[in-house]
Amino acid sequence: MKGSHSHLPAPSVPLPPAAQRLAGKVAIITGGASGIGESTARLFIRHGAKVVIADIQDDLGQSLCRQLGTKDVVSYVHCDVTNDAHVRDAVDLAVSRYGKLDIMYNNAGIAGRVDSAIQLESNDNFKRVMEVNVYGGYLGAKHAARVMVAAGRGGVILFTGSIASVTCGESPHAYTVSKHAVVGLMRNLCVELGEHGVRVNCISPCALATPLLSEAMGSAGKAVVEEVICASATLKGVVPVPSDVAAAAVYLGSDEARFVSGVNLMVDGGYTTTNQAFKIALGNLLGA
Ligand SMILES: NC(=O)c1ccc[n+]([C@@H]2O[C@H](COP(=O)([O-])OP(=O)(O)OC[C@H]3O[C@@H](n4cnc5c(N)ncnc54)[C@H](O)[C@@H]3O)[C@@H](O)[C@H]2O)c1
Repeated sequence: MKGSHSHLPAPSVPLPPAAQRLAGKVAIITGGASGIGESTARLFIRHGAKVVIADIQDDLGQSLCRQLGTKDVVSYVHCDVTNDAHVRDAVDLAVSRYGKLDIMYNNAGIAGRVDSAIQLESNDNFKRVMEVNVYGGYLGAKHAARVMVAAGRGGVILFTGSIASVTCGESPHAYTVSKHAVVGLMRNLCVELGEHGVRVNCISPCALATPLLSEAMGSAGKAVVEEVICASATLKGVVPVPSDVAAAAVYLGSDEARFVSGVNLMVDGGYTTTNQAFKIALGNLLGA
């Protein structure tokens, strides 16, 4: 079955009020200028949320904001997630402009260098990947918890993990370690913050044709990236796109998920349920 016919559109038109699943919620999305974050910002706004897009790509983030609405609905803030003061200011902006913070989506991340052999690993690269993917998420959670716990209304903290949070050997060491760590952080926070009614979850997508993966694949074009993704997919007939992750974030951010916490939700079409290495080796042997 060819995986080419099920791209989901990501229109920006708000849904009718009765269909909005995040009406009245205020969200911050880090890494919100591109890829999964951008798609989530679009879908959150369709569902009635007010959104602060926090990123370091200022031109992209600002032009996205202009597309998505006026300042009473969406704002951009320059925020390097590895900078404590930036993250603090982003959280404080959400509260001062929109009155509260309901959803903190720690999504910003980098792939880092793709050399897979540890002897080729650059120490600086390892530290940087950990700094953005883990420390950045930690800072987001820390500042979100500060205002959510004080407000006493609960809240939702989300992270973007990856299939590399549960599988090994397909991604570089730094990236794999960082995504395993994100899940550890999420689960630890779920216990502590559950006391305050704050739910904490992670969404772990499979490979998606965003700039992060295209660049990691040597600036491969979208069509090539999607061909590889579909050829390796467990679930055929669906080209996974960022809005599939955004849809999971809407669910986890909404009250429909009010008793869901501590979950690493795989949005991978079943990719991580299997390991085909034996079958492929056998096929190669018998075919040879
Ligand atoms: N694309 C994939 O195949 C894939 C698969 C699984 C998980 N993920 C994860 O999804 C998340 C989003 O990635 P994406 O695929 O949308 O990539 P992307 O490159 O399109 O978006 C990532 C965004 O994060 C921002 N960012 C990077 N460093 C930052 C920093 N220090 N401070 C603030 N913002 C920063 C970038 O400017 C960019 O806008 C990442 O955590 C990534 O690890 C991606």
